[in-house]
Amino acid sequence: MESRLYSSPVSSVNAARLHSRIAALARFGALAGGGVTRSCWSPAHEEARAWLLDEIRAAGLHGWVDPAGNTFGGLGVSALSASTPIVLTGSHIDTVPEGGILDGALGVLAGLECLQTIREAGAVPRRPLAVVAWSDEEGRYGSLFGSRAFCGRLDAAALESMAAVDGERLVDAMARAGFDARRAPDARAPANAVHAYVELHIEQGPRLDEAGVPIAVVDSIVGIRRARLTFRGQADHAGTTPMERRRDAFLAAADYALKARDLVVDGGGGRSVTNVGVVHVHPGVSNIVPGRAELVHEIRSPDADTLDRLARESQALAVAVADRRGLAVDVVAMSRTAPVTCSPRVQTAVEAACKRLGLAWKTLYSAAGHDAQNLALVTDAGMLFIPSRGGKSHRIDETSDADAIERGANVLLHTLLTLAA
Ligand code: GLV
Ligand code: MN
Ligand code: MN
Repeated sequence: MESRLYSSPVSSVNAARLHSRIAALARFGALAGGGVTRSCWSPAHEEARAWLLDEIRAAGLHGWVDPAGNTFGGLGVSALSASTPIVLTGSHIDTVPEGGILDGALGVLAGLECLQTIREAGAVPRRPLAVVAWSDEEGRYGSLFGSRAFCGRLDAAALESMAAVDGERLVDAMARAGFDARRAPDARAPANAVHAYVELHIEQGPRLDEAGVPIAVVDSIVGIRRARLTFRGQADHAGTTPMERRRDAFLAAADYALKARDLVVDGGGGRSVTNVGVVHVHPGVSNIVPGRAELVHEIRSPDADTLDRLARESQALAVAVADRRGLAVDVVAMSRTAPVTCSPRVQTAVEAACKRLGLAWKTLYSAAGHDAQNLALVTDAGMLFIPSRGGKSHRIDETSDADAIERGANVLLHTLLTLAA
């Protein structure tokens, strides 16, 4: 049925070209032991952006960069406008520290490959198409920075004070890369400028790989809460202070982390997860009982009410743990994204592409956060996943099979053709 939606000479992407671009992008920020560190606005990221713009233009697309650093390649379009809504695809080229080469890169480079394939075949979809690399998906500053700006959800008043975990201020990081952070809200797209958004990504978990299914149609994306907790006790001599008199901030933080895990596992409905990925102990020497401990605590769930409840209960838990140990605690919310439902129209288009290519699929929720969740607030947005081998991601040995990558890119191609028809 879907074949009646569009007809074109396009059937498949150039997989060799896609693989060679994935290898080329992996060189920016490459680590000696494999994997990459390519934080947004870092020199490696900015070199990768310049490379991507060159590739976009060499592929015959229009390249442009918006004030939030989102980098676009347009086919039949060189700017956004409400009068000509585009079909948009993409992902991100920033990475977590010591991350893999496919997280984000796949969606950007497969999107570029699809648009180049369509252009070379001389196909003229009814709607213009564009590929985008969103800035700072990985949340060096808040979360999903570029797509938030694009969707009009940046808090302009907060930009000045935003700082990364390493202390670098957003305004300085962006200035070094040639951007003015105060102008980032200007990246907001005109209303109705995007007809639909679809993002190809690696699953980053084990479900597809273990099921032996090549494609996931994503039906929803988890929400994420991040909070900074500071436990304040009393610094003391680590040798002479009797154990029962200590007010050790690290032990309170550790007690909280263990109990928060139980809280989320027991009360999260089987689909909620939690992580403490940042810990600072002050003053941080072995012969002083820690007087202060800071944690960044994250909770994720695909269910909004569950996420709200877990965030509230975790905050109460922090206060209870601190009280019991004779300490104080501050809890400051850092970022929050809400779980979203993917557009049925985009899900149907991905399924139609799978049928056309004879590929099985499975419907999954995304346990990772993605820019598609911002786009879902302003347009029909959805995602598809390919298997991550061994379910590994956010680690240097993250990988997917070459065939899986090619299949994903071809499903993206046919999804884009359907959405643009
Ligand atoms: C994005 O990579 C996330 O943290 O889910
Ligand atoms: Mn990631
Ligand atoms: Mn990603």
